[in-house]
Amino acid sequence: MREDFLLLNPGPVPIAHEVAQAMDAPMISRRSTTFGEIYNRTIEKFEALLRRSTGTSDTSPATGDTLILNGTATMALEAGISNLVGPEDEIVALTNGQFGRRMADIGERYATVTVVETPWGEPFDLQAVRSAVTDDTALLTVVHNETSTGLLNPIAPIGEIAAAHDVQLLVDGVSSIGGAPFLIDEWGVDVAVTDPQKALASPPGISLLFASPAAQTAMVGTRGPFYHDLETYLEAAADDRTPYTCAAPQVRALDVALDRILTEGMESRIDRHARYALAVRAGLTAMGLELFPSPREEADYSPTLTTAAFPDAFDPVAFQTELARRGVSVGGGIAHLSSEVFRFGNMGELSPDEIVRGMYAVGQALRAGGADVPVSAAVAETEAVIR
Ligand SMILES: Cc1ncc(COP(=O)(O)O)c(C=O)c1O
Repeated sequence: MREDFLLLNPGPVPIAHEVAQAMDAPMISRRSTTFGEIYNRTIEKFEALLRRSTGTSDTSPATGDTLILNGTATMALEAGISNLVGPEDEIVALTNGQFGRRMADIGERYATVTVVETPWGEPFDLQAVRSAVTDDTALLTVVHNETSTGLLNPIAPIGEIAAAHDVQLLVDGVSSIGGAPFLIDEWGVDVAVTDPQKALASPPGISLLFASPAAQTAMVGTRGPFYHDLETYLEAAADDRTPYTCAAPQVRALDVALDRILTEGMESRIDRHARYALAVRAGLTAMGLELFPSPREEADYSPTLTTAAFPDAFDPVAFQTELARRGVSVGGGIAHLSSEVFRFGNMGELSPDEIVRGMYAVGQALRAGGADVPVSAAVAETEAVIR
């Protein structure tokens, strides 16, 4: 693969050289003081990131504890769900895309699930959520930024519904945390999950799971999973350790990635992601493409990726081949959208030039496939918004 290959997928995202280099350090035992220091400071930095994820210069509390777990986000979501419910419990799972659906599927392995569904890419009907959540509900699951569609689901009104019934709220913040406002205490989030390979611009392999005091009290302990018994992790974390062997190189990388984020500052990082996404929407719209999600308002568009529909009868495989020839990759459509849309990610540390280069390559690849799209106009629109 070319050295300058540009990954514009909505995860994994390109990582900085010093983040990659951090993984090359000598191997260490999870029982060592050195590992304890790295683990502890990585968590402290992540919690600082959460407190600064307001989108303004204000901070906001994130009352609770963070754990680093081996495995990607699906594992952490399963850990969160399986530690909060048992077979007698009821989950309400909100679904308007692939990742909301996945939480419903996970939930069905552990409890009874009521799915509140809207078509992919459409905002939730809050009245339907209100009707589904009752005092008997143990857990409400929702994805903040649906990476399969490019729709941002507002969490505050869903948090109000959960709080009114004293229900645990688990939020998948996998493709939003680090690139969008995320207000743990204000929204009433009990468990939040994210993955370093998205807006944190670190490699895949570990996940971060935040648990509020209420979530920690609600955990089912030995009735839940063994390897991912979160109470065991919390006990070990109190001593700056993990209970089992930890993917230390990934933690080292995340430690450095978080330094870079905190140096940039979360206010500017969130602002930058929003501006990039706006520029991508402007460019793709100038090409005459239709954005896929059907938001009610502008704020419902994801600030970390944009999903656009291919021109009619376009070959998605040829599109990716043409893009790769130009040294660029974007995300394909997921599930039933695989031949209908592509997903242009703008997460992490990308520069304005890289976004513009990606827009040019997308336009050229569409033209190579026979679509008569105005590439220069799209690039000009992208440039005008991103600078
Ligand atoms: C919102 C969201 N949730 C969960 C996941 C699952 O991540 P993984 O397949 O890496 O476990 C992803 C991955 O793209 C995601 O975007």
